[in-house]
Amino acid sequence: MTLIKNSRVLASQIPEGVAPNKTHFRTVVLNEPTPQLKENEIFVKNLIFNLDPYIRRDFPDGKTESTVVGFGISKVLDSNNVQFPIGAIVLGPATWEEYTHLADPNLLKEVILLDKVIDSRLPLSTYNGILGGSGYTVWESLKSTGNLKKGETIYISSAAGTLGQIAGQLAKRQGLRVIGSAGTDEKVAFLKNELGFDAAFNYKTQDPRTALTEAAGPAGLDIYYDLVGDNTLEIALDLLNPKGRILFVGALSRHQNREPFAPKNLINILFKQLRYEGYEVFDHYEHLGEFWNEITPLVVSGELKYKEVVLKQDVSTVAETYLKLMNGEFAGKVNVQITDV
Ligand SMILES: NC(=O)c1ccc[n+]([C@@H]2O[C@H](COP(=O)([O-])OP(=O)(O)OC[C@H]3O[C@@H](n4cnc5c(N)ncnc54)[C@H](OP(=O)(O)O)[C@@H]3O)[C@@H](O)[C@H]2O)c1
Repeated sequence: MTLIKNSRVLASQIPEGVAPNKTHFRTVVLNEPTPQLKENEIFVKNLIFNLDPYIRRDFPDGKTESTVVGFGISKVLDSNNVQFPIGAIVLGPATWEEYTHLADPNLLKEVILLDKVIDSRLPLSTYNGILGGSGYTVWESLKSTGNLKKGETIYISSAAGTLGQIAGQLAKRQGLRVIGSAGTDEKVAFLKNELGFDAAFNYKTQDPRTALTEAAGPAGLDIYYDLVGDNTLEIALDLLNPKGRILFVGALSRHQNREPFAPKNLINILFKQLRYEGYEVFDHYEHLGEFWNEITPLVVSGELKYKEVVLKQDVSTVAETYLKLMNGEFAGKVNVQITDV
């Protein structure tokens, strides 16, 4: 039996209505035996964590401390699964710890083999962001549910975030007029000057209703790509044109335990025959190959731009970095790389 030193983040109970803070997490360092793998199980070394805001959903709300199952890129150290041989690089559930025994069939079913997909001209972290679940979510949701039409106007909230950056650029490539909002002037400038958004505003310093009404102009809005799930919806409902669509993809405000929001003007949905649709990527992974074939060359050539953060840090800093992410301190995908890759 070999013992392995494993640092692991534990999260304690975070009551409903309370935003997570530093006191909810601690790191333990354990000497653990390497696991005897049963059929289909794998043992991985976690390389780069992908700090997705919705990890909040997986923080414990029970009474006991527990591990946090996030996402990330890992290397297979031992395997009893033909799909993921020893040495393979995989994308999928990544517990906030150095080494993980992946045994839960529900988690194993989410693991994706990256070996044949990785383009060596790109950093591995790209597969957490624009070429990972985030990029795929945007590409697939716009394709299957967005029904984008040239000449239409789309508004994207949290536009400088990982999904927002990609959504704006893909919509622009299809000939739409693109409006975005973000929480700093620097992010707003990035949207307009580097990503080619037609209009953008700072939702923290400007009145969102006035700014969005002005940005939409007489043409109004045709699509609201909602990544925040807050009262911005009420403004969009008023500005959307007949037969407009709201694609509800993210709920950033909920991850911070903000009070749930209910708009008072839902009647717009009836009068303007709007479509309001939720989208979860987990039901739609069947087109990943097509996504990589189409999007990888655009990322390699720089036609699709992306901003990401790669922090080379100890595993004990992951929780703290997640809290900074939710405060808007970064732009784009936040990666925590805990070892050399
Ligand atoms: N439906 C799906 O299948 C699916 C798949 C992947 C991700 N998602 C969800 O999509 C959303 C966006 O993900 P992401 O990866 O793009 O996030 P991200 O890049 O990590 O976004 C973080 C940014 O969100 C902004 N933000 C935080 N709280 C906000 C609030 N209350 N209102 C407005 N902006 C806020 C902050 O920027 P500012 O400075 O602009 O405030 C922050 O920098 C998340 O809710 C994520 O869980 C859904």
